[in-house]
Amino acid sequence: MKTIKTQVGIIGAGPAGLTLAHWLKKHGIEAVIIEHRSREYIQGRVRAGLLEQNTVDILKELGLADRLVKEGQEHHGVYLNFDGKRVRVPFGQLTGGRNITIYGQQEVVKDLTEAWLAKGGQLLFEAPALELEGIETDSPKIHFEHNGEKGIVECDFIAACDGFHGLGRKSMPKDAYKEYSVTYPFSWLGILAHVAPSSEELIYAYHERGFALHSLRSEKVSRLYIQVENDDHVDNWSDEQIWEELSVRLGTEGWKLNSGPIFEKSITPMRSYFIDNMQHGRLFLAGDAAHIVPPTGGKGLNLAVADVKHLVDGFRDFYEKASMQALDNYSTVALKRIWRAQDFSNFMTTLFHKQYEHGSFHYQLQKAKFDYIQLSEAYATTIAENYVGLPFESFEALD
Ligand code: PHB
Repeated sequence: MKTIKTQVGIIGAGPAGLTLAHWLKKHGIEAVIIEHRSREYIQGRVRAGLLEQNTVDILKELGLADRLVKEGQEHHGVYLNFDGKRVRVPFGQLTGGRNITIYGQQEVVKDLTEAWLAKGGQLLFEAPALELEGIETDSPKIHFEHNGEKGIVECDFIAACDGFHGLGRKSMPKDAYKEYSVTYPFSWLGILAHVAPSSEELIYAYHERGFALHSLRSEKVSRLYIQVENDDHVDNWSDEQIWEELSVRLGTEGWKLNSGPIFEKSITPMRSYFIDNMQHGRLFLAGDAAHIVPPTGGKGLNLAVADVKHLVDGFRDFYEKASMQALDNYSTVALKRIWRAQDFSNFMTTLFHKQYEHGSFHYQLQKAKFDYIQLSEAYATTIAENYVGLPFESFEALD
């Protein structure tokens, strides 16, 4: 039986767990990560790739952004399409110079994993957490398995950064939280293709045939999505059909979509989920373990990193000032941003997806919103400031 002693035991080596480990180390707080999956699996997992200004600033501050700065692409605006008409929402002038950066989530995970191991950080792969013990005491334990052997992480706190299906949330007493869940009646078929992006900035499009999104990963790789039915399957779509559909839905006068070999195809369901309490005793949840947003606002990874910011504030207060106050407040502070992100993600999702009869009352509401973006700088600013992400101070000042 292997026993590991540490201050913060982290479950999950995704963006939340890795950022937390690095950040704690910077302040002299020890952490150990155990991860259910293999290193190859977590680094190969294709996810969204939109980093808010806050996230980029944090990664820079932690000295983890060398490759991100070199290879990531900073975007100063976004294109929004409706029925073939395109408008641009510029970020710089509407948000006081805040921007987004496009850099794949798995690249973030690669960089943070490498840097953690290079610092001599402990991280066990293929080590599933089996049970949490004593979360209501001052010395909780994570029981895990590794290489066929049982082990225990003995710690002061457990940070469950173990995703939607993880053990963290399941270990909270059922009456400790209320859950909210919405499943949208559509999914995204996403592709990665070896082809130069057809637009230097992202394009979100409403079309009679459904939503489409043009994103990118590099000068040679494009990332695109189309709205499909929930029960659809990638095998129902040939590469030609996907390109044809993207070209129609994203189309606008004088613009052409480049196509090329598709090397990844997958379908992602769209849902909003969250719980109204992210902690119990010495157990704290962060990232997808506590909340899921539909990807239309690009908020998933950024919310995880924001949770981690509040957790680090709490752990520092505990170890540096022997105060539990910030940790006790963790959920309350984190949930303000999470609610904002739920609302914005829902707004973007309902604005750009085909859910109602073309020409119907609800369609006209979607169209009226799109028109309003062009009419009102105030409305465009609302979209821009949510999209690039509000500064931490703005939420911390709320009661
Ligand atoms: C992506 O690049 O994968 C991406 C970008 C923006 C989104 C969702 C996904 O809203």
